[in-house]
Amino acid sequence: MSLLEVDKISMRFGGHVALDAVTLHADPGLVTALIGPNGAGKTTLFNVICGLLSPSSGDVYLDNKSLTKLKPYKRARLGLARTFQRLELWSLLTVRENVQVAAELRAGFGSDGVDPRSEIESIVERVGLSDMIDHRVDELPTGQARLVEIARALATKPRLLLLDEPASGLDDQESEGLGHLLRELAADGLAVLIVEHDVQLVMDVSDHIFVLDFGRVIANGDPASIRTDPAVLAAYLGSSLEQPS
Ligand SMILES: Nc1ncnc2c1ncn2[C@@H]1O[C@H](COP(=O)(O)OP(=O)(O)O)[C@@H](O)[C@H]1O
Ligand SMILES: [Mg+2]
Repeated sequence: MSLLEVDKISMRFGGHVALDAVTLHADPGLVTALIGPNGAGKTTLFNVICGLLSPSSGDVYLDNKSLTKLKPYKRARLGLARTFQRLELWSLLTVRENVQVAAELRAGFGSDGVDPRSEIESIVERVGLSDMIDHRVDELPTGQARLVEIARALATKPRLLLLDEPASGLDDQESEGLGHLLRELAADGLAVLIVEHDVQLVMDVSDHIFVLDFGRVIANGDPASIRTDPAVLAAYLGSSLEQPS
């Protein structure tokens, strides 16, 4: 069993099938990517995994435990954290305060007795935002705000981190830094699952890739096999797998 098991998840919105029996998995120590054209169902799947949407059928398991009936906050307590495609930060708070709120929430339900304030600076340093720690989030460019979201997610000490398009709005240098960070987080034992449009970044950092098209997984494998998979190339017809789509 993998840490995260998504088992035949289907999601219908009225007559529209957004997810059709999607099965995938993510493991500690690995960066797993979910890619696919716009509208393929990637964000919908994240919403199902973290409990913001109830699937029409199928199950999600974390560490062998079914999450299906658990509310999002209970899933967070079990070690699931995510970031959002459209940023969801407290924009009037500083970077430090955003991370602190998450760290204090974690301290409220965690049992390790660590003073949450002691960890904020190291988490902020880890994502490369030490210079901005006392700036309000609404003063930051999008790229840095995305890093604040990651810092806030890390402050909950997740076992599984879901990132929805973390590189959007990042310049080349920031994307490269993000890639290093994702590899480091995996090396520390986190299971990282990312949805990302920047195919080059995905190819560079992922251990395993699942490709979604019209709500179905059409391929999965390592970057080298995905790059040449005929079904994947057909789904990306007109856009190169070497470039951001
Ligand atoms: N709340 C919703 N109600 C109705 N349709 C939705 C809803 N959320 C997503 N969809 C539809 O489901 C499909 C998948 O959307 P989404 O998961 O956002 O795709 P992706 O993240 O891969 O671009 C799209 O056709 C979208 O319009
Ligand atoms: Mg999306």
